Amino acid sequence: MAARVLTIAQQKGGAGKTTLAAHLAVAWSLAGHRVAIVDIDPQASLTQWDRMRGERAQASESAGGVAKLAPLHVVSIAGWRLASEADRLKRGYDIVLIDSPPHMETEAKIAVRAADFVIVPVQPSPMDLWATQGTLDLIKKERRPALIVLNRVPARASLTTAMRTRIEELGVECAATTVGSRVSLASSLLEGRGIGEAAPSSTAGREIAALAEEIWAAAKR
Ligand SMILES: Nc1ncnc2c1ncn2[C@@H]1O[C@H](COP(=O)(O)OP(=O)(O)OP(=O)(O)O)[C@@H](O)[C@H]1O
Ligand SMILES: [Mg+2]
Repeated sequence: MAARVLTIAQQKGGAGKTTLAAHLAVAWSLAGHRVAIVDIDPQASLTQWDRMRGERAQASESAGGVAKLAPLHVVSIAGWRLASEADRLKRGYDIVLIDSPPHMETEAKIAVRAADFVIVPVQPSPMDLWATQGTLDLIKKERRPALIVLNRVPARASLTTAMRTRIEELGVECAATTVGSRVSLASSLLEGRGIGEAAPSSTAGREIAALAEEIWAAAKR
């Protein structure tokens, strides 16, 4: 199967791009895909997380154990290098996942252009949805298929239903799987792990596994 470049884009800050990128990458790797992450965010959070994974693996090895960490390749590069790097990585990996920074128009454009498929995390509030319009316009202009993912969804189902209706009115597909507000998604990252490694059978673990499967099914179409 041909490799796919997936970009997580959302120009609004704090929507959950980096969090979802890390957990989805681990989920896809655990499902047997060869996964590379490209971090073009100058904050380089995923690069730091990857460093922690390396330290974790090393500590476990020197204690005589085997670190049960899914294989991942993480690179941190400047946005202007993205197109050529994504092309290169496509030859060695099944999924090339790009985490993009907020509030950087040029980087967002480059990241969406490099993608075969775009994932747009949105928190279920009117302000967050309104702030997503710029990202959706960009995706439309670049003619890329995209999926909105509702992230940090509260238990109240009525809000999610209302958000879904609004998203459908915008003419963008919304993932059936939503991700709740789960502390374990932050705490597992702090340990250098993905939820699929730390607590696969937790609610968060099951949500991320289902989301990874849904996105991959849509992206490889
Ligand atoms: N589903 C979730 N449950 C609980 N906390 C979450 C969830 N998703 C994201 N967060 C938290 O929200 C904050 C912002 O998340 P994150 O850094 O992933 O967003 P981002 O879109 O990458 O932000 P930026 O635009 O700054 O790059 C973090 O503190 C993260 O732990
Ligand atoms: Mg981020």
